[in-house]
Amino acid sequence: MKVNSLSAASLLTGLALAQDLYPGLTTVNHTCAIKPQLRSCPAQSPSSVDTCCTETFGGLILLTQFWSTYTGLEAQGQLLPRDTWTLHGLWPDFCNGSYTQYCDLRRQYDPVPSPNTTNGLPNGTVVPPYRGAPVSTFLEAFQRYDLLDYMNTYWVNQRASNNEFWAHEFSKHATCFSTFQLPCYGPRYQNHSDVIDYFETTIEYYRRFPTWGWLAQNNIRPSNTTQVTLSDVQGTLARASGATPYVGCSGPRYNETDAGRGGNDTGRTVISEAWYYMHVFGRPQEGVAIPVNATGSSSNCARARNALWYYQTTPGSIRS
Ligand SMILES: *[C@@H]1O[C@H](CO)[C@@H](O)[C@H](O)[C@H]1NC(C)=O
Ligand SMILES: *[C@@H]1O[C@H](CO)[C@@H](O)[C@H](O)[C@H]1NC(C)=O
Ligand SMILES: *[C@@H]1O[C@H](CO)[C@@H](O)[C@H](O)[C@H]1NC(C)=O
Ligand SMILES: *[C@@H]1O[C@H](CO)[C@@H](O)[C@H](O)[C@H]1NC(C)=O
Ligand SMILES: *[C@@H]1O[C@H](CO)[C@@H](O)[C@H](O)[C@H]1NC(C)=O
Ligand SMILES: *[C@@H]1O[C@H](CO)[C@@H](O)[C@H](O)[C@H]1NC(C)=O
Ligand SMILES: *[C@@H]1O[C@H](CO)[C@@H](O)[C@H](O)[C@H]1NC(C)=O
Ligand SMILES: *[C@@H]1O[C@H](CO)[C@@H](O)[C@H](O)[C@H]1NC(C)=O
Ligand SMILES: *[C@@H]1O[C@H](CO)[C@@H](O)[C@H](O)[C@H]1NC(C)=O
Repeated sequence: MKVNSLSAASLLTGLALAQDLYPGLTTVNHTCAIKPQLRSCPAQSPSSVDTCCTETFGGLILLTQFWSTYTGLEAQGQLLPRDTWTLHGLWPDFCNGSYTQYCDLRRQYDPVPSPNTTNGLPNGTVVPPYRGAPVSTFLEAFQRYDLLDYMNTYWVNQRASNNEFWAHEFSKHATCFSTFQLPCYGPRYQNHSDVIDYFETTIEYYRRFPTWGWLAQNNIRPSNTTQVTLSDVQGTLARASGATPYVGCSGPRYNETDAGRGGNDTGRTVISEAWYYMHVFGRPQEGVAIPVNATGSSSNCARARNALWYYQTTPGSIRS
């Protein structure tokens, strides 16, 4: 399973033990249509607003995407979409840029928790591996076969199953939104309504950030022979999306390649991620968002001219 880099946000430790973000929250009166649509950052006080109707816990919302050239599970039919970055997740960071994870172990569906404790440290609460039915069965119970098809096309894991990836994103991140807490769904909550709601909401935001197309419009296309420059990539995405996203790289460091050896540019050289930051008004589910610049470092990639590879996908890894 892919593990996201921690370079753009520092991990907040110690907050993740509670099972309820807001103990005592009831299922009564969460009619968001009659409440003000308040901005998620700076954080609103959970004691003075309906936390089901305003995101009060993790108000800095990130829509994250991957650029991959293969899945590793091609033989099982797990393929990449053509000419499209894939979906990673929707994350609720704190307004100050740090974050927490696995906020509700009653909704732990991740078969391979990563990290394996709530705070990533050996002394954190252990996140038990999930051994139940895959999350795709939750979607089937709601007869959301169309959603499942969409997810298999655009929300694709590398070296492990898509089901594992979706469960990971839900249990690690969705449980840390105030607006996806169980009491928000009222007394007639059905098992896993929140999971479907998170997947749908995540896709709603994913569709707003056509990274591949934005780059292509500016003549930045995948190539295995010509390299690109971080400021061109990031500037293009910033102009198109309305704020500077985090651009993530993997692969060798520039100072360890022939072109950059011995120099002071230690950024990595293979483009692999984009994270778009937003504040939202009201529930993130409503989709009323404004773009904001990435907090902290806006990239771990090399900054030198033509230092980066935006690799072409492997022909046999693409869905026909
Ligand atoms: C729910 O709303 C009703 C009608 O406004 C009000 O009387 C009641 O006190 C509220 N209950 C809670 C728990 O907020
Ligand atoms: C960031 O915000 C969270 C949530 O309000 C808080 O717990 C944490 O201490 C803050 N971190 C820093 C570095 O200020
Ligand atoms: C968590 O993972 C680390 C690194 O893989 C391992 O050393 C540790 O034993 C694991 N801890 C638990 C509680 O499973
Ligand atoms: C857990 O470990 C971290 C780092 O090793 C340490 O800073 C922290 O105080 C520990 N917390 C507890 C509750 O022991
Ligand atoms: C809800 O789903 C969980 C698995 O996520 C299962 O263990 C539980 O039995 C289900 N509850 C009901 C009422 O169906
Ligand atoms: C490149 O930078 C890294 C990180 O600063 C450093 O550990 C490494 O030794 C450098 N490599 C070379 C060849 O200079
Ligand atoms: C790296 O070196 C370049 C040119 O030698 C210099 O302009 C730049 O300030 C240096 N950057 C850092 C972070 O030291
Ligand atoms: C993002 O940063 C740029 C450059 O620092 C600034 O001009 C712009 O106003 C910022 N955009 C937002 C949405 O904050
Ligand atoms: C381009 O290079 C990447 C990285 O080495 C590789 O995975 C991919 O298969 C290559 N694609 C083509 C079309 O050669």
